[in-house]
Amino acid sequence: MSGLAEGWIDLSGRIALVTGGASGIGRASARALAAAGATVLVLDFNEAGAAETADLIRGDGGAAMARALDVIDETAWTALGDWIAETWDRIDVLVNSAGVARFDRVEEGMSKTYREAFAVNVDGSLFGMAMALRFMRPAGKGAIVNISSTASLKGNPAMASYGASKAAIAHFTRSAALECMRAGGDIRVNAVLPGFTDTAMAQAVYDQFDDKLGGRDKTLAVFAAGRPAQPEEIANMVLFLASDRAGFVSGSIISVDRAQGA
Ligand code: NAI
Repeated sequence: MSGLAEGWIDLSGRIALVTGGASGIGRASARALAAAGATVLVLDFNEAGAAETADLIRGDGGAAMARALDVIDETAWTALGDWIAETWDRIDVLVNSAGVARFDRVEEGMSKTYREAFAVNVDGSLFGMAMALRFMRPAGKGAIVNISSTASLKGNPAMASYGASKAAIAHFTRSAALECMRAGGDIRVNAVLPGFTDTAMAQAVYDQFDDKLGGRDKTLAVFAAGRPAQPEEIANMVLFLASDRAGFVSGSIISVDRAQGA
């Protein structure tokens, strides 16, 4: 059936970067952006996984390249920026999906887990935004989508650092959106808050909660509406926010969830 939906989102000619693109939500987002016509640079410290995503995209007839990137390495971000300046000299879309879960409690002190969660989930996204804005600012346009989490919305007795890191990136998103708006042009910055989603990270949560809650079924009963989201269901929102169809959406923190949250 052809109609309104066909060609509704057209990213032809756009350059899109996706961190955490080797797996889960990042991979699904990379594939969705490419299916809409973008040329996608898949970034991950899992080099083989990133290459596999790029292969999948090319297999679907899309355009993609893969590059190794550890998002906590600020120098590597600078080098990536230099490479992009040589290659395309533009970034239209950045999706910050690289992330790690850490299981901890405030009473345990958290000195290690806190730093690990914040290094990837916060620093990694901030370095990415700064690098993308190096190109978006002079161009006066662009879209950044940070993957936060519904875990940012309330306290979490088992993933304190994780929830705090996701709340932090949601707040940085709001501030970055305002900075961009005040600077003029048309750069939008938004955050997606996925509910519990069926990825490698979800498996880690199942494993962690096995003892306490009695496995996958009971975990799901706590986390979501009887089933986890599929990564593609999160990618649909990422795609929308990356597109001109979301032209009046910036500084927004948008849940993709079925009511309960994490
Ligand atoms: P995933 O584990 O399938 O994918 C995460 C990706 O990030 C992996 O490919 C991993 O190699 C990459 N990564 C981790 N550290 C990195 C680093 N230092 N540098 C470069 N890449 C790195 O997990 P998923 O679920 O796809 O997670 C994607 C994002 O969604 C994360 O930010 C996560 O916190 C968030 N999220 C996930 C939810 C879930 O239930 N799965 C719920 C809410 C948010």
